[in-house]
Amino acid sequence: MNILAYCVRPDEMESFKKFSSLLGHQVTIVHESFSPHNAALAKGYDGISILGNCNANAEAIEEIAKTGVRYLATRSAGINNIDLDAAAKWNIKVSNVPAYSPNAVAEFAVTSALCLARNIKQAIHRVEEQNFSLAGLIGFELRKKTIGFIGTGRIGVTAIKAFSGFGAKMIGYDLYPNEEAKKYIDYVTLDELFAQADIISLHCPLTEENHHLISKENINKMKDGAIIINTARGALMDAPAIIEALKNGKLGGLATDTYEFEVGIFHHDHSKDRINDPVLQELINLPNVLVTPHYGFYTDEAVANMVEFSLTNLRDFETTGVCNNECKALQQV
Ligand code: NAI
Repeated sequence: MNILAYCVRPDEMESFKKFSSLLGHQVTIVHESFSPHNAALAKGYDGISILGNCNANAEAIEEIAKTGVRYLATRSAGINNIDLDAAAKWNIKVSNVPAYSPNAVAEFAVTSALCLARNIKQAIHRVEEQNFSLAGLIGFELRKKTIGFIGTGRIGVTAIKAFSGFGAKMIGYDLYPNEEAKKYIDYVTLDELFAQADIISLHCPLTEENHHLISKENINKMKDGAIIINTARGALMDAPAIIEALKNGKLGGLATDTYEFEVGIFHHDHSKDRINDPVLQELINLPNVLVTPHYGFYTDEAVANMVEFSLTNLRDFETTGVCNNECKALQQV
């Protein structure tokens, strides 16, 4: 298949070379992010490859449909940046990569929790300023805590297993509880999880039902000093409500690898032009908040998987007309 791959990072180049050759694709690489403004570049290609920070809105989908493109394969798991209704309308088949190494994000959730538990951000800042004092750096041990997992699918279960060595009590909530998770956690209702957990780790997709799940109302149901780990999606949190709760002490900390309005900011260097988003800036400035640039997935293993599996999806569409990872409207937002 003739494929135009957008938003290709240098670390993906080797995998594109290897797997396009193995799967018999001709791939042209562009480094810029996909959007309505450069959709016309796809003229003459059968399929495009994009990433989770590309803007595949209705306008962009209409533009690529006009170029003759029939397939859109995102190299990410998340598809909330793709207008699936528009894709259905224009008869463009969409696929994602739901099953790349879950360990990457799961291990990152553990990393984030430990960094908050031990005030790592403040400690590093202090040492950089030659301040080696301990005041205010006292941490806590996970074994004394209750960890609540919202979403116990592939990444959630892998995170649960990774956290299991610390000896904490672990509980979980999922619309569809699974047997593997039950070996490690007790399933509870969402309100019970909010009431009991000291650490809440989000591992569910963003849907219409759970937009701003971490809202002022739900924060008020939580234990005083609870900490939130969000390696899932930014819009699961109402960021201003979280800031208010962090400032008045209701919440003890936040580690977030995602942000509701991250597109155009995360994965770009804004050190020269500065970002114009006071809410994100305030989160970054708070001492008990870790903001990371949506890179939980970013390991050698996962990146190679993402390129390989997305190109395999396109090969499957081309050769059989069917792909196990096809994404259809109403699945997710
Ligand atoms: P998965 O589909 O295997 O598991 C998701 C689980 O969430 C399922 O068990 C599902 O039943 C449950 N769920 C759905 N809606 C829910 C709700 N409203 N409340 C509670 N549970 C709900 O997905 P996987 O692979 O575990 O990924 C989870 C999420 O992690 C992705 O949707 C994505 O948002 C995020 N992610 C973040 C990355 C990063 O780099 N930070 C990279 C990859 C994924």
